Amino acid sequence: MNQEYLRIQEQIHRAEVEAMVESDGFYRLGFHLMPSTGWLNDPNGLCQLGDTYHLFFQYAPLDARGGMKTWGHYTTTDFCRFTYMGVPLVPDMPFDKNGVYSGSAYTDKEGMHIYYTGNVKLSGEHDYVTSGRRADTIMVESKDGIHFGEKQVVISSDDYPQNYSCHIRDPKVWRENDTGYMVLGGRTRSDEGRILLYTSSDMKKWELLKEITANGWLGYMWECPDLFSLDGHHIISFSPQGLKAEEFRYQNVYQSGYFISDADPLTRDIAVDEALFMEWDMGFDFYAPQTFKDSSGRRILIGWAGMPDAEYKNGEVEKENWQHCFTVPRKITLKQTEDGMKRVYQEPIEEIKKLRTGVGYKMEKEYAAFKEEYLDIEIKRLPRVFEITIADGVTFSYNGEWAALSLTEDTGLGRKIRRARIFSINSIRILVDSSILEYYINDGEIVFTTRYYKKEKGTVIQTDVSGADITVYPMERIIVKGD
Ligand code: FRU
Repeated sequence: MNQEYLRIQEQIHRAEVEAMVESDGFYRLGFHLMPSTGWLNDPNGLCQLGDTYHLFFQYAPLDARGGMKTWGHYTTTDFCRFTYMGVPLVPDMPFDKNGVYSGSAYTDKEGMHIYYTGNVKLSGEHDYVTSGRRADTIMVESKDGIHFGEKQVVISSDDYPQNYSCHIRDPKVWRENDTGYMVLGGRTRSDEGRILLYTSSDMKKWELLKEITANGWLGYMWECPDLFSLDGHHIISFSPQGLKAEEFRYQNVYQSGYFISDADPLTRDIAVDEALFMEWDMGFDFYAPQTFKDSSGRRILIGWAGMPDAEYKNGEVEKENWQHCFTVPRKITLKQTEDGMKRVYQEPIEEIKKLRTGVGYKMEKEYAAFKEEYLDIEIKRLPRVFEITIADGVTFSYNGEWAALSLTEDTGLGRKIRRARIFSINSIRILVDSSILEYYINDGEIVFTTRYYKKEKGTVIQTDVSGADITVYPMERIIVKGD
């Protein structure tokens, strides 16, 4: 434990203690994980060790607008009660002095093995794209997920391929048949996003195996790659930057999505087919998701419910001294849509239902006002065309061809409209929290996540459908100890 580590921990501790005094903001969330103070972005190091789930996150505790990046840490055994474990990784070494950037963890009988990117900005005249930045891949191990060992550089920036810019980061690591694999997101010198796939026999010495490319141009940079198999198919997930907005696709400044590959990327050369690249979430606030497999065999995805460099903001939240949160954990499965496409479906993990209180209220009129801030709404038997408005300012509509999520200026703070083509809508589940909404269409065929900023307490629901089957479950808060 070096001096820098102690100095930074002390600084963070002071900020967190101060935040405890003011932890009562209107927009603070009930059942979405958020930082007690400061800024949160990507989910990192998601894993399970024994019975305990470990959820790390990109955390800038000193400033709600970002800044020094560390790894914050939550644990849970049931996804309803969490413990805040502090900030195990802080930028205390020369090779991560400008940020402990994103990464992942895998677990085995020896414990937890973390890999992340050490962000270093060199001083001098640089564009920080082709020069001036280092991004070593660093490993840290822990027997118990509580005490962490020495940081070790396992791939130096000097050893990345020469045709890449300095933007290479976000290692996702796993072991398969006694071999280690790592994917890193990158930007070539000719501004093409790619994935670098490395392999290792001892998890310390890594060799470049191949690159995953695209057929055509699919953004200049791919952040936060992930690669896993799901129900017999290979899913390649990443967050590309630079795609041009279309009416129904790529509507945010940056995207995140996946490609379903029949061939195994570990043994075959894969080029992601741009036409088959599917976005994870069609809402305004979703980026940089990560997945992991738990001991029951579920593949769970968590996204950052935020969007870097977006033109819309989070207003008052910043005055409450925090910004951003995770989506709820989503179980993902591969299914066929009604029009015959293969898609990854996302549903809130079963544990979220344990937060429901009571048997649910059947909404039979077109208007209902709830005093609660946290709701889980299930809607079935929908007509072909319909509209549902929440909190006066957030309308979800379907016209038989495409769905739209639109927010008023007051409620959306610049979030206007997002659209998605969909063949038909049979069901919707809406998770309502004080300042975030998640819409799961057709059991998770399409999802929309958005932050929203209502002015009044409670939740008003309005709809133009009569005869639909709408059940509203008030929800309890999650419990977070140690905040
Ligand atoms: C994605 C990202 C990552 C990076 C991290 C830094 O949101 O830009 O590529 O490692 O955030 O916080």
